[in-house]
Amino acid sequence: MRRKLVVGNWKMNGSLAALTEVSAIAEAARRTPGVDAAICTPATLIAPAVARSGGLPIGAQDVHHRESGAHTGDISASMLKEVGARLVIVGHSERRADHREEDSIVRAKAEAALAQGLQTIVCIGESAEEREAGRAASICTAQLAGSLPDDWRDAELVVAYEPIWAIGTGKVATCEDIGEIHAEIRRHLVGAYGERGGRIRILYGGSVKPDNAAAIFDTPDVDGALVGGCSLTADQFVPIIEAAGRG
Ligand code: PGA
Repeated sequence: MRRKLVVGNWKMNGSLAALTEVSAIAEAARRTPGVDAAICTPATLIAPAVARSGGLPIGAQDVHHRESGAHTGDISASMLKEVGARLVIVGHSERRADHREEDSIVRAKAEAALAQGLQTIVCIGESAEEREAGRAASICTAQLAGSLPDDWRDAELVVAYEPIWAIGTGKVATCEDIGEIHAEIRRHLVGAYGERGGRIRILYGGSVKPDNAAAIFDTPDVDGALVGGCSLTADQFVPIIEAAGRG
């Protein structure tokens, strides 16, 4: 039995003033004990969010694959850990597009994060053109093959399926489409990691909202959600966490 995991991705949003939302979300998450919740803030807000989160895990949205050195502007996994981050998102489609991150670099980042004990969410997902061409499943499995580590220890690996065309657009994939891809991801994980692959949580992401969350959480092999826009306020995020608690 995999517990539901609901992760907020604040992207490049938020401010010190917005951390009141973190406190409110943390309080609601404590009242929903069957669900794991977390928020990935911009890097500048991690430390102050940790101070306000009352134990709700706070994470980052990217990490460099090296430990230290001449990498201007980058942040390593041990640096994230030092300020209290407990998880990190790697390979988000916005990073793959904006920073030309390919599978091999996503894999290196995942390995670096897992080695530091950070819960690591590896994102994959097809574009609208790829879906229309009937290639959604093959694109996703190719991304998994290229982006996931061969082996890891001591930290949790999570996969997030986020169809690019559903992110921030209000267009959500149908539960049937989500279920098909999640089943394909599960097959890949079990093939790659055996019994351990059956325990990896698979999140759906892309326009998850209070009014569609319950149906998404009821879909087989959906173990939670990665939520962008609707994670910015407690008003929108708490109902999604509560829906996971009922799912
Ligand atoms: P969205 O973003 O919920 O705003 O669509 C999801 C994500 O990109 O993680």
